[in-house]
Amino acid sequence: MELKNKKILLTGGSSGIGYALSKKLVLKGNSVAVLARRGDRLLQLTNDCKGSEGNLYTYKCDVTDKPGVKEVISEINKTLGGIDIAILNSGIGRPEGIRKFNSENAFEIFNTNVIGVVNCIEMLLPILLTQKSGVIAGVSSLADNKGYSGSGFYSGSKAAVTLILESLSTELKKNGIKVITIKPGFVKSEMTAKNNFKMPFIMEAGKAADIIIKGLIKEKRIIQFPLITAIGAKFIGLLPVKLFEFLESKRRPEN
Ligand SMILES: NC(=O)c1ccc[n+]([C@@H]2O[C@H](COP(=O)([O-])OP(=O)(O)OC[C@H]3O[C@@H](n4cnc5c(N)ncnc54)[C@H](OP(=O)(O)O)[C@@H]3O)[C@@H](O)[C@H]2O)c1
Repeated sequence: MELKNKKILLTGGSSGIGYALSKKLVLKGNSVAVLARRGDRLLQLTNDCKGSEGNLYTYKCDVTDKPGVKEVISEINKTLGGIDIAILNSGIGRPEGIRKFNSENAFEIFNTNVIGVVNCIEMLLPILLTQKSGVIAGVSSLADNKGYSGSGFYSGSKAAVTLILESLSTELKKNGIKVITIKPGFVKSEMTAKNNFKMPFIMEAGKAADIIIKGLIKEKRIIQFPLITAIGAKFIGLLPVKLFEFLESKRRPEN
C-alpha cells in the first residue's frame, strides 16, 4: 500500500514511538488524527508538524474512557471522511516487581494496554465494516511471549493484545479489513527511561517509526524489530521453563 493521502488515526502520539510516527506520517502527506491525554505535548506535535505536506488533527482523549473514545473516533471519522489505518499505540509500562504486585497496578496496566485497545477497536469496527476496508495496527511488544521477571502485568497485557489481534485477523480478513501486530523490542522513550536494567539493542524512536512505516507499506501481518531481538524472543520462547527462570534470575537479580 502507498502511505500517502491516507486517513490515519493514531493513539498515544504525544511521546515516544507514537510522536515520531505521527510526525513522519504527516510529513509523508497523510491526514493524521492523534489521540493522547497530554494537551501540551499535542500542541508541541502540532508545532513540529507545521509546514508538512499532510494534515495533523489532535484530540485530547484517554483510551480508557469509553464514552470519550466513542465521541472522538466518531468525530475523526467525520472530519477525515473515513479511516484507512488505525494505529493503536497507547500503552503504559513501568518496573513492577513483588513490592508493586497489587491489583491497582495490574488494573491500570491492563485497563490502558488491553481495554484501551478494545475500546478503540469496538468503536472502529462499525466504521471499517461499513467501508469494507481498512487496517487495524495494534502495538504489542516482543515481551508478549514470556513472564519476564518484574514485568508480569506488562507482558501479560501485551500477550493479551497479541492474541486479541490474532483472533480478530482471521475474521476481519473476510471483511476486507487487515490486522497488523507491531512488536517492538526496546525503544528509547519515556516508558523505557524508567527502566533500571540493561536493554539490549535499544533503538531511537525515529528509527522504530521508520521500520513501522516500512512494515505498514508492505502490509506485513507482524512487524517485529529489531531482527536480533525478534530472533532472541523466539529462542527464549522455546527454552525449558527451568532454564528460562535461571537466566531471568541472573538478568534481574534484584527481583
Ligand atoms: N519503548 C519500548 O521499548 C517499547 C517496546 C515494546 C512495545 N512498546 C509499546 O509501544 C507503545 C508506545 O510506547 P512508548 O515506548 O513510545 O512510550 P511513551 O513514550 O511512554 O508513549 C506512550 C504513549 O501512550 C499514551 N498513553 C498512555 N496512556 C494513555 C491513555 N490512557 N490514553 C491515551 N493515551 C495514553 C501517552 O500519551 P499521554 O500520556 O499523553 O496520554 C503516550 O503518547 C506502547 O504501547 C508500548 O507498550 C514500547
